[in-house]
Amino acid sequence: MPPIRLALLLGSNRSPRFCDTVAAWAHAEAARHGGYRVDVVDPRTLGLPAALPPAPDLPTLRLRRRLAAADAFLVVTPEYNHGYPAPLKQTVDAAQAEWQAKPVAFVGYGGHSGGLRAVEQLRQVFCALHAVPVHDSLLFPGAAARFDAAGRPPDADACGRAMQAMLAQLHWWSAALRQARAERPYRANAA
Ligand SMILES: Cc1cc2nc3c(=O)[nH]c(=O)nc-3n(C[C@H](O)[C@H](O)[C@H](O)COP(=O)(O)O)c2cc1C
Repeated sequence: MPPIRLALLLGSNRSPRFCDTVAAWAHAEAARHGGYRVDVVDPRTLGLPAALPPAPDLPTLRLRRRLAAADAFLVVTPEYNHGYPAPLKQTVDAAQAEWQAKPVAFVGYGGHSGGLRAVEQLRQVFCALHAVPVHDSLLFPGAAARFDAAGRPPDADACGRAMQAMLAQLHWWSAALRQARAERPYRANAA
């Protein structure tokens, strides 16, 4: 089977940001799985306009092409004030059909909540876009203090097993939905 094309979306755009550490670990886990080819989508480098333009500009079209090429999405996001960061919503809102009938998985991190509230809110957002959130998620409370200097999460073996389980779910849905989309285009507004 050809590899699943995975768009790994970063939720934070500030500098410095802990997102780089968590995303690097998630990226390495996707490589360890062996069934993915990863495209890292970083809000810092997308150059999206501050306000949604009436017609998509060049950076928006470039982003949409990358998302359209993806079979699956993995969102790595912190929690800000009991929600997900604004730059992530900006990335999500820049596209529409590109999300449809594709699975999405989440890695959250933050302070006390570990990103739980951000991830649960994102499930609603992606359902509104006809994407398919997978069951599992990875959550890291107190992440900045608990990842080690080499970028490993606490209890790295257990976290690695949990991440591989989630990546396996995501891969199953990606393959199934890629075939389904090829056989019969998804129509979001079918009567
Ligand atoms: C504005 C702001 C609000 C935050 N709100 C929460 C929160 O509601 N819950 C939580 O668990 N952590 C919260 N945090 C902690 C962040 O999730 C944590 O610092 C995280 O590592 C930030 O990720 P970043 O450096 O990649 O942007 C907040 C941090 C900031 C800057």
